[in-house]
Amino acid sequence: MDGVTQGKEAAGSGRARHVAIIMDGNGRWAAQRGLPREDGHRAGIEALRRVVRGAPNLGVEMLTVYAFSTENWRRPASEVSALMSLLVEFLESETPELAAEGVRLATIGDLSVLPQASQEALRRALTNTAGGERLLLTLALNYGGRAEIVRAAKKLVRFVQAGRVSLGAVDEQMFASLLDTHALPDPDLLIRASGEERLSNFLLWQSAYTELWVTDTFWPDFGVEHLQQALLAFASRDRRYGSHS
Ligand code: FPP
Repeated sequence: MDGVTQGKEAAGSGRARHVAIIMDGNGRWAAQRGLPREDGHRAGIEALRRVVRGAPNLGVEMLTVYAFSTENWRRPASEVSALMSLLVEFLESETPELAAEGVRLATIGDLSVLPQASQEALRRALTNTAGGERLLLTLALNYGGRAEIVRAAKKLVRFVQAGRVSLGAVDEQMFASLLDTHALPDPDLLIRASGEERLSNFLLWQSAYTELWVTDTFWPDFGVEHLQQALLAFASRDRRYGSHS
């Protein structure tokens, strides 16, 4: 089944099975309180916990969150290292509870340049949550939509050069199978916190027909009630996928 067909089925039920989130506004939330940015990210993790806990009860089966972008390396080294430490802390402290709640962790993005400690914590967390069947939580780490598309294009060129794929066999479905998200349907709904109305290099290919929902709420203040509002708005959208009916 291709992404559009899967999306249409989800739309038919008015239910968003796959929700993507840009967790923006941690820094501004902290600044408003005169706190360091790291405290904003810490509060952002609390918000993520709330949403992960509440999502399955609202019919969400897959949650994909933008935790660290390919552009985030440009932040001050101290903030980058705080984010990496928070990631390890989150994985170590949350994995048992995530596993108990039926959450399976996955990642997208190029993990090879993350600090060793982060890579190891991720490997452990992925193994320890492998049996989860209630919610698939995908962390986008060192992820950028453009970088992902370039990686897929390089794989394709190698396949073609090796004679394993003919040019005639290349279509959208085949190309999508080379993306980091090959095991995921396209997101039905993309939520962005903190009011900015852009994709910021998140799931560029996959969001072709995704419904967008933006809230002014900073991510650390985001709660299950906001997710509920977004899902309600989604249920009333008319998804036409380029057709007129
Ligand atoms: C944007 O806020 C958020 C991020 C750069 C990363 C999101 C990270 C978290 C929610 C915490 C880390 C998550 C895990 C799983 C470790 P911003 O700093 O851009 O906020 P601003 O736009 O107000 O400055």
